[in-house]
Amino acid sequence: MKNLIAINGSPRRNGNTAELLKHAMQGAKDSGASAELINLYALNFKGCTSCFACKLKSRPHGSCAMKDDLSPVLEKVKSADAVIFGSPIYFMNLSAGMIAFIERLFFSNYIYSDEIPTVFPKKLPSAFIYTMNMTEKHFEEFNMQERLGMYEIFTERILAVAPKVLRAFDTVQFKDYSRYESSIFNPEEKFAHREKYFPEDCKAAYEIGRDLVK
Ligand SMILES: Cc1cc2nc3c(=O)[nH]c(=O)nc-3n(C[C@H](O)[C@H](O)[C@H](O)COP(=O)(O)O)c2cc1C
Repeated sequence: MKNLIAINGSPRRNGNTAELLKHAMQGAKDSGASAELINLYALNFKGCTSCFACKLKSRPHGSCAMKDDLSPVLEKVKSADAVIFGSPIYFMNLSAGMIAFIERLFFSNYIYSDEIPTVFPKKLPSAFIYTMNMTEKHFEEFNMQERLGMYEIFTERILAVAPKVLRAFDTVQFKDYSRYESSIFNPEEKFAHREKYFPEDCKAAYEIGRDLVK
């Protein structure tokens, strides 16, 4: 049976990112695969500490020498059949937790060699699911694709397949906007957007999960 690993880079276990990941997992399950959700913010781990143990000639390449809660997750990704990186956008970037995870996964499998670009043991289908407050128009105006595209390029280099991408825009952050200082938002418009578009995002996530394990 194939196995999908869904990585939640949001600290919110029931937020937008988690919800889309759950739909992707359902898609994978309906294709006959198993699916596991990893909540990064439930784990105690750091980003790469630049120890360079993964680059030593005397040590097998492709494994991170740091030992913490992320160690078994990195091994699981290696044996998975597909992986999804789910992240909210924080300050125009991935969340700090997701960046730390990617540093550990990618750098330990990245090799400073002219001959081979990666020591990851196989081609691994993957996807990025991004959720963000900004609208699609702002995403384009801020050249966000250029920024996030770097992660997608590294993913193709390390995992040897270009990732699928889903972007969920204009997400709802609060159930009740009146409880928070949030005057830059129009809650009615936010909820109307969610009602109209979030189901489409969920469907797209489902299809990504389904297709990744085919
Ligand atoms: C620390 C922080 C920084 C954020 N920065 C941005 C940002 O730069 N651009 C944006 O569109 N949304 C930003 N957001 C909003 C989140 O990306 C958005 O609400 C997302 O859907 C939250 O995902 P979640 O519900 O899975 O936690 C930020 C939220 C937080 C908490």
